[in-house]
Amino acid sequence: MSENKIHAFEGNEIDVHWDQRLCIHIGECGQADNSLFEGGREPWCVPDQVSKAEVREVCERCPSGALSYIDKDGSAEQPAAENSGQVVYNGPLYLTGELDIEGAPEDMPGVRFRAALCRCGASKNKPFCDNSHIEAGFEDFGAIGKSGPGLEASGGPLKIKAIPDGPLKVEGNLTLRAASGRIAWQGTKTALCRCGASKNKPFCDASHREAGFKSD
Ligand code: SF4
Ligand code: FES
Repeated sequence: MSENKIHAFEGNEIDVHWDQRLCIHIGECGQADNSLFEGGREPWCVPDQVSKAEVREVCERCPSGALSYIDKDGSAEQPAAENSGQVVYNGPLYLTGELDIEGAPEDMPGVRFRAALCRCGASKNKPFCDNSHIEAGFEDFGAIGKSGPGLEASGGPLKIKAIPDGPLKVEGNLTLRAASGRIAWQGTKTALCRCGASKNKPFCDASHREAGFKSD
């Protein structure tokens, strides 16, 4: 398969799209206990192998937004009721919810609901993760010290702006989970480190300046 392409898998009731630029090979799709995706099969994805509900459910497992679908009855994916950020051990930040990532290309529909964002500073596809943290040897075990001001509601639009050479500015209701799964921080405004150098991860502590972080 060629790079930088969106691959379409057609079904009678629902089509599946896989965006190679976003896939970080977590395998939530292939591990699903059905034959929607099968490694080594051509085509890899056959929507008509399972029910439409299963297609939707498996695509919505994809943490990077690489998988999306077009339901031919016109009903679209809906955001999760809660905006949530899961810090991944030595890895990215998984965001789910009603995501509005500034500058996200129109042809990446999955990232309106699910996205894996770079925390190490090494991705070549910023602000998205491309698994460069593995080669970079990024280390952060995902503990979160602060608890935040709290929340009155859990959903609604979550705006994410990648500041050039700086953090991810996030505005909207957000619950952050430590890598342990613990609900750690809740609030409506924060700046999250994407350079890999903060001593107070996942938050920015301005270390990007000393580190000379360049986002381009
Ligand atoms: S679940 Fe998404 S990110 Fe993971 S391997 Fe499948 S398509 Fe790639
Ligand atoms: S972006 Fe990493 S410390 Fe600010």
